[in-house]
Amino acid sequence: MSMENQNVNEEVKATETVATSAVNDPNADNILEVRHLKKYFPIKGGFFGGVTGNVKAVDDVTFSIKRGTTMGLVGESGCGKSTTGRTILRLLDKTEGDIIFNGEDISTFDKDKLRELRTKMQIIFQDPYSSLSPRLPIGEIIGEAVREHGIVSKEEYDDYISEVMKECGLQEYHKDRYPHEFSGGQRQRICIARALALKPDFVVCDEPVSALDVSIQAQIINLLRKLQKDRNLTYLFISHDLSVVEHISDTIGVMYLGSLVETGNTEDIFAEPLHPYTKALFSAIPMPDPDIKKERILLQGDIPSPANPPKGCKFHTRCSQCMGICKEKAPTPKDMGNGHVVACHLYDEK
Ligand SMILES: Nc1ncnc2c1ncn2[C@@H]1O[C@H](COP(=O)(O)OP(=O)(O)OP(=O)(O)O)[C@@H](O)[C@H]1O
Ligand code: SF4
Ligand SMILES: [Mg+2]
Repeated sequence: MSMENQNVNEEVKATETVATSAVNDPNADNILEVRHLKKYFPIKGGFFGGVTGNVKAVDDVTFSIKRGTTMGLVGESGCGKSTTGRTILRLLDKTEGDIIFNGEDISTFDKDKLRELRTKMQIIFQDPYSSLSPRLPIGEIIGEAVREHGIVSKEEYDDYISEVMKECGLQEYHKDRYPHEFSGGQRQRICIARALALKPDFVVCDEPVSALDVSIQAQIINLLRKLQKDRNLTYLFISHDLSVVEHISDTIGVMYLGSLVETGNTEDIFAEPLHPYTKALFSAIPMPDPDIKKERILLQGDIPSPANPPKGCKFHTRCSQCMGICKEKAPTPKDMGNGHVVACHLYDEK
């Protein structure tokens, strides 16, 4: 593990409170259930500009998240993490599948029902600057949607915005300032405050600390954790940084070429990754103790195009353990115990 990442993790650990994880609590309810979700982007071309194919960005993805927990979503660039998050939030229209949120299939909601839903599901992006209007003062950025959705009464409004800002580590006098007057970390606090002011239940955090200095990353992660505990929030935390994901997530989903290849509790996946892709991905995490040698598994070849994924197991073109069946038949996900699910023929019953 690099010194920088080690510092982030140490700082995160230092402020960790004893969390009563809902992951293994059978009574905890699923706030979100995603079933057989597909999101295809049509490829237009040809002489008449017709559809010549599809980018299968999300291709039959199924998972659930328990209320008050965090699911980390990992995988190489372009594997469909952001598209999964955006499709769940209905920022993109699904191609197929169900999105059950708080017990209702929101994938069929019309405009009016979606408007109500908008406040309950929020997103925080990687680049806080581009998602903040440069012409609006911070108070207005945070408050605009609060007024629009009537989250609090007129009388309560000013105090409410000040309170949310304080909760996110911002000062009341920041209300009249503009985004360019803030550092990257503070801008991300503004984005978090804007999302939280709408009293959401669920937040997609799409690489929320990737653009920040390492010293600031731990502060933002700690803030997200504190807010989660105080408000019983549920997060889908998308990141390519596995050491960050390990610390914030209760469960993890590993994506490859639009498919989930492995899901399970964070401890189980880190202790014993099962899928050859997860093994390769995790073998690249630097170890904190330089005396512990870990064999790095190098992936062969390039990532195939999601417009034309390999037949059978999508990972077979890069898998060192590929067997005959892998080229023909897609593996079905199997629960190996404790909700640790893997999609790989190595675990087929013999
Ligand atoms: N609006 C779009 N139109 C067409 N193709 C798209 C669109 N958005 C995403 N894609 C394609 O879908 C696939 C998945 O993209 P996505 O952005 O979800 O990946 P990601 O895992 O979030 O990657 P990264 O780690 O780089 O953010 C990619 O092949 C991408 O090029
Ligand atoms: S199904 Fe086959 S090709 Fe795919 S990951 Fe498992 S062993 Fe490798
Ligand atoms: Mg992305």
